[in-house]
Parts: sequence; structure tokens; C-alpha cells
Amino acid sequence: MGSARTSLPLICGFLVGMTLTLILVTSRQVENFDTPCAEAYISAPMREYKDVSGDWVVHQDPMPAPPPNQDATPKVIRARFAATELGTREKLMVAVLAESSLAVTTNTTLGRHFPNLQMFADSSRIDGDLATLTNLISYKLNGQKPHALILSSLFNLTVHESYDWMLLMMDSAYINPFAIWRYVNSVNWNNAVLIGLPASDGSGRCRLDTGILISNPALQTLIHQRHICNTLASGSTDSDQLTFEKCLQVATNLTCQTEYQNYPYSVWGEASGKAAHDYIGQWSEIPGFNDSVAVPQLLSDADARSLHDHFVKVELARLDEEIDEMEELHVRMTDALHTEESPSWPPAVPGFSKPPNRYQISTWEFFTMKDIFRNEPNQNVRPLEGKDRDDVMEVLNAARKYVETRAPELEFVQLRNGYRVFDPRRGMDYMIDLTYRNSDDEIVERRVHLNRFIASTQLLSQVPYVKEDTDLTIVVPVADETEVMPARKLLARHARLCTAATEETRKTRIVMAVFSPVEAHSTKSIADDLEELKRRCKRSFLEADVLTIKRPSSQVRDPAAPPPPPNQNEPPKTPDDILTPAAIASAALDETIDRYGPNTMFLLLPAYADVQKEFLDRVRINTIKHYQVFFPIPFVEFHPTIAGMDMDEKEAGQVSPVERRDAALAMLRDGAPAKRKRPLIVQKDHGRFDSLDFSCISVYGVDYLTARSKLSGRRIDLVSLFLAQSDIHIMRVIEPTLRFRYHSRNCDLDIDEDDASRCIASKRENVAAKDQLAKLIYNEQ
Ligand SMILES: *[C@@H]1O[C@H](CO)[C@@H](O)[C@H](O)[C@H]1NC(C)=O
Ligand SMILES: *[C@@H]1O[C@H](CO)[C@@H](O)[C@H](O)[C@H]1NC(C)=O
Ligand SMILES: *[C@@H]1O[C@H](CO)[C@@H](O)[C@H](O)[C@H]1NC(C)=O
Ligand SMILES: *[C@@H]1O[C@H](CO)[C@@H](O)[C@H](O)[C@H]1NC(C)=O
Repeated sequence: MGSARTSLPLICGFLVGMTLTLILVTSRQVENFDTPCAEAYISAPMREYKDVSGDWVVHQDPMPAPPPNQDATPKVIRARFAATELGTREKLMVAVLAESSLAVTTNTTLGRHFPNLQMFADSSRIDGDLATLTNLISYKLNGQKPHALILSSLFNLTVHESYDWMLLMMDSAYINPFAIWRYVNSVNWNNAVLIGLPASDGSGRCRLDTGILISNPALQTLIHQRHICNTLASGSTDSDQLTFEKCLQVATNLTCQTEYQNYPYSVWGEASGKAAHDYIGQWSEIPGFNDSVAVPQLLSDADARSLHDHFVKVELARLDEEIDEMEELHVRMTDALHTEESPSWPPAVPGFSKPPNRYQISTWEFFTMKDIFRNEPNQNVRPLEGKDRDDVMEVLNAARKYVETRAPELEFVQLRNGYRVFDPRRGMDYMIDLTYRNSDDEIVERRVHLNRFIASTQLLSQVPYVKEDTDLTIVVPVADETEVMPARKLLARHARLCTAATEETRKTRIVMAVFSPVEAHSTKSIADDLEELKRRCKRSFLEADVLTIKRPSSQVRDPAAPPPPPNQNEPPKTPDDILTPAAIASAALDETIDRYGPNTMFLLLPAYADVQKEFLDRVRINTIKHYQVFFPIPFVEFHPTIAGMDMDEKEAGQVSPVERRDAALAMLRDGAPAKRKRPLIVQKDHGRFDSLDFSCISVYGVDYLTARSKLSGRRIDLVSLFLAQSDIHIMRVIEPTLRFRYHSRNCDLDIDEDDASRCIASKRENVAAKDQLAKLIYNEQ
């Protein structure tokens, strides 16, 4: 069916081509030339064939020469941020021409509201005050006019490529930041405009001292045509300010507009020569002053400060008014609509989200003052303590306060019970049932619904842009003899990953970090396996290497200090000398980073890991230099005998459950090694995602080295390096293509207390599913 459908166009094409040839060669008119293909198919076999192949000359294009052998394979150079690639810009940049100490006040009042504020000053004017500004660019005139230097700096800052608007102002003006933001957020930036106050001489240029808003297209023209202004400057006696104004007009060829898309740029005109701070009270009574965008000609810092205070007050009053209006509207709508569309409670918090299907219904947790019933697969009731208890107590107090202010005569008896649920759009919702006694000594119940909504959320706008084309070094520590076989199996599986021919331009390197107690012949077999792997993966840029590592002392060594001298005569025996998993991991990483340099990505993979190709891609995407480390949550295999995976489906069908149970018990009693016959798949009978396991980590060498010194105490993994700091994010997500093969695990109790309890909990849960354990223990007949 499928092949018939796909080959029909081919056959039709062939026949039409043949028909065309016949027309050309035999000049016979074909009437149904443009009939649909189906008809052509029927009529074509009627035609007479003639061999025309002799007329054809075979012309073979020379093969394009293969590119010269480049070892430094060209990499796609990508912008670091997606915004650069997509061409999205920031909204507003403010350039201030600083002339006096007013610039410092401008920085303090406006800097908070304009994140992209840049000051420019002539270096001869910079005094002690101005010098404190960190965002100041100074220029030396050398006979040039300031505008030429400022425009050239703006060009160097690529302002014309990065912003929708630029506000050009002088420090002698106060600019109302709220009005400016409202302005640029309300009008389009995509026309070339200069917005400001036109000069009174009718020439149509904008006055610089009242601020000028320049849209992106105008800014582009200005920056690219700035050389036109050179003719203005030479030999003219105009002031710097006037020259700049003329330059803007000439270079952009635009007339100043006071109103754009019905938004006026209103400048307060009564300021000239007056000390503004004495007049604000008076002015604020005049309509229009509160809406001013600019107040020019300030005389002192006090003017700037008091104007700013005033406009902050105006803004607050405006916001309060808006809130009042919204509340009023909300009340009106609640009264008017009693349907599903009526506003949600609490106001402005989205309503409960509808579950997409019956598997994703959010489950309410039930609690009393003693216990909380949670939605966990293996344990449903836990004592109410710690953070949960604090949470409940806080909510209980809020609920009581609500009831008791409305009915003070009630006497509180107890919290009967409550429910809570988390909705990622609403926050935490609670339903609390309270028991009260009224004045007649009767018991009354009150139910209160509370919501703790999500406050101060933050968008991470500056996540670096990453691609999968980075080089990756996989580090597999082989700490002792028991890990040799798993490590060799890992290599065998890896051979399957890379035999697929790919157009890789990125390198993958496998490093087996073999620790010294592993015997020489085992190290040799690992090295042989690596050679074989390299041979098979020739086409995919795989490098492979064995590093033998002298077992470091269990004391975490100072990375700066030289390694302690190895002591070969006394094999480590005392518990203090048993290396913690973290020490092994860090020693393996240290050595590998030492050898290959810290500028690539390192993936530390336990020897038991079983990974798929997509996993390596995700590692490359989820690890970001100076920004993010990746701790995938692995799928951990259950004990194959207990989970019933030691027989394949057919065998399992032939034995009765009782025989199966006896066989399993016998195997366990003998301590026979766990053998799996069925393929390991991500499914609840085969294993589980172990969210307590942090043993697989992917990190840039530099980020690891920075965090390295924080490793202290006896730990089971390296996650503690990246906790409780804000520089490097931890990415944690379940990873179905990373599986850990079953291995018996020992939890060293002589380690950090939290780590030990994590290890024990993880070991306990990873044995098998509860129902599988129950089948083994209870004889259900
Ligand atoms: C200038 O403003 C910025 C942003 O508000 C602020 O971080 C900086 O400390 C200010 N500089 C001075 C010298 O006030
Ligand atoms: C802009 O960059 C050019 C070249 O890097 C440099 O010569 C020029 O001095 C810079 N201009 C300013 C004002 O910094
Ligand atoms: C300047 O603008 C005017 C009117 O929009 C136009 O006629 C003139 O050709 C422009 N000049 C240049 C040099 O683009
Ligand atoms: C301007 O704002 C101030 C402060 O909010 C207020 O006291 C004054 O009445 C307002 N003026 C006018 C004309 O609305």
C-alpha cells in the first residue's frame, strides 16, 4: 500500500517524461498533454518506442574537491544569548551628557528606574564627584566637538543594535522616569522619529536640554550618518549643545515632534531660572505639571531630589487609584456574574487549573494536628513536623483570626482537620475545619478556605544559549576490583552508541579513571577494551584513555597542596582510609581535568551506568559554563531476582507463582549473583527514579575547580559543592536514558549524617517495588 503510493508519482513522472520525449522526437501531437497522471498511465503504453539514447552525451560534473583536512573542525559560532540571534532588543537606553555634579544626583534618582543608563563627560570636567560614577565614559576633546565623540562611543557600544529607544538628555534636566516608560511602552518604535521639544526658532530641531527620545530607525540613521555632522562643527561658533542639536537634525533628516501617535511629550515650561524645590508645591496645583515628562533647567541637587520625590508620589497616587478601580471592577463583576467566568478567588490569582487527564489530577493532602497524609507511593502517612508543621500552624492562626474577628463570641476548641494542595499557578490552597463552642455551649464547625499565592516570581531572562556541539569528556571511575566488570560492560555498550556513522563535528572522549588497588591485569583488559572501542568508533571522533590514579588519602586534600606521598607498604585497612564515593569522584575529576584542561565539559558516570545516545546530547545542552551543572536523576534497576526479571516471559509463564517464589528465595539464600534475562526498560516493575541519587554529574572543569574547595567532610557525592550559593544553578531532572544497573550497595555510616541517611533510604527503596517484596515475603494462596 505504502510503497504503491510512494512509487506512483515516480512512475507518473517517468511516463510524462517519456511522453515529452516522444513529442520532441516524433513531433506527434499529444492531445491530453496535461491530463492527470492516472490517465497518462493508461494511455502511455499505446505509444511507439524509439531508442533515442544515442543522441545523449554523458556529461559528468567534476566532483567538488574534498575540503582540505582540517583538524580544527570548524564549529558553528553561535551567539551566547538567544535574544541576539533572534534580534530582540532591550527597550530603552538612556544617555546622559554630564556637565556638573548634578550627574551624580541624576544617577541616584534615575539609575534605579533606567537599568541602562550611560553617562558621558568631557574628561576636563570630571571632578571628584563625577569620578565616582561607574557608568561614566569620558572623552578628550582634542579639538573635536563632543557630539562626534559621543556618537562614536554610542556606535562602539552598538546602542543602535541593542535598543528600541534611546533617550538623550543633559544632567541639567529632570526626566520623569515613569512617564518615559509609559511613553516608550505605548508607542511603536519602528518609525524614524525624534520626540522632544522643538527649538523656538522654528528650525524644527529638538532641544537637547529637555531630553530627546530617538526611535531605533532614527538611531540607526543617526549613527550611520554621523559623519555628516563633521561639516557642521568646523569653523562654527555655535555652542556644543547647539551643534549637537543641529547634528541630530541633519544626520537623521527629521523634524522634532512633540506628539507621536497621540502621546504628547510634555515639558514643564515654567522652570526657567527658578529653584524648582521652592515651587513644587505651587506647581503641583496646576494641571499638567503632574503629567510632565521633563522639567528642564535645574539649578541644584536639591531641585532634582525634590522633583523626583514629587513624581514618585504622583506615581504612587496613580497606582493606588488603579488598584482601587480594579477592586471596584472586581466587586462589580463578582456581583454581576455567578458563572464559571466570574473572577477567581483571591482576586488576580488564576483559578484552579483543569487537570489535562485523569492521571494528572492534583491530590489534596489531608492533615490533622498530628499527622499528614501525603501522596507518596510507598508511605502515605507521616508525622506532622518541621516545615509542614510550621506551615499548618501559620494557616491555622490565619483561619482562626478570620473566624474570631467576625464572631468574637465563639470559643475555639480545636482544629478538626484540613486539606492542602499545591497548584503551580495559584500556589498553596488550604481548607481548614475548625471546631468552636458557642455561648450556648453547643459545638459549631467552621470551614475556612485559604490561599497562599505565589509571590515575587522571577523570569530568568538571561539563560545562555547552548547547542549540542560541545566536546565532552566522560569520566568513569573504577574504584576497585568489583567495578571492573561493570566498567567493561559499559564500554561494550558504548561501542553500540558510536558505530552509527554521524557527521559529528564534536569530540567525545572516554576516560577510565582506574584507582591503584585495581590489579594490573584488570587495568590491562580495560585498556584493551578501550583500544577496541576506539577502533570501532573511528568515525565519530571518539578518544579514549585510561588514567591510573594512586589512591588518594581519605582526607580531602587541599587542591593547592601537593598530593601526599603514597604509602605502598601498608594497604589501607582502617575505616578512616576507606575512600568515600565523593573522594573517589573528586580524585577522578581532578586527575582528568589536570590532564585535559578545565575548559571542556566533564561527565562523571558511575561504572554501573547504562546510557543512550540522547543522554549525551542532553548533557551537552543542560550543562552551561559558569551557569549550570547537571545532576540527572537516574533510573535505578531493582534486584533482578526479587523483581522477577531473572526469567524471561516464556519461562515465567511455565512456572507457578509458588515455584517462582521458592526459586527466588533459594537464589537469594545462596547469595547467587543477580542475573537479568529481560531487557531493562523504564517501567515501574523494573526499577525506579531515585531522586536521592546525585552520583552522576556533568560540569565544566572551571566551574568544578571553583567549587572544589568547598568539599569537606566525608560525603557520598559532589552535590554539596553546588548547594547554598547563587552563582551556579543545579539542574535536576529525571533522565530515562540514564539507567543504573543493579549492584549491591554498601552505605558507609562513617560519613556526613545527612548523606548516610540519604544513602540508606536510597538503598532501601532501590531493592524492589513494595508489591514485589510482598510477593516474596507473604505466601499468598
Ligand atoms: C549610579 O547608579 C547605579 C544604579 O542605580 C548605582 O548602582 C551606583 O551606585 C550609582 N553610582 C553612584 C556613584 O551613586
Ligand atoms: C571606537 O572604537 C574605535 C575602534 O575600536 C576606536 O578607534 C575609537 O576610539 C572608539 N571611539 C570611542 C569614542 O571610544
Ligand atoms: C529629507 O527629508 C525631506 C522631506 O522628508 C526630503 O524631501 C529630502 O529629500 C530628505 N533629504 C535627504 C538628504 O534624505
Ligand atoms: C499632583 O500630584 C500631587 C501628589 O500626588 C497631588 O497632591 C496634586 O493634587 C496633584 N495635582 C493635580 C493638579 O492633580
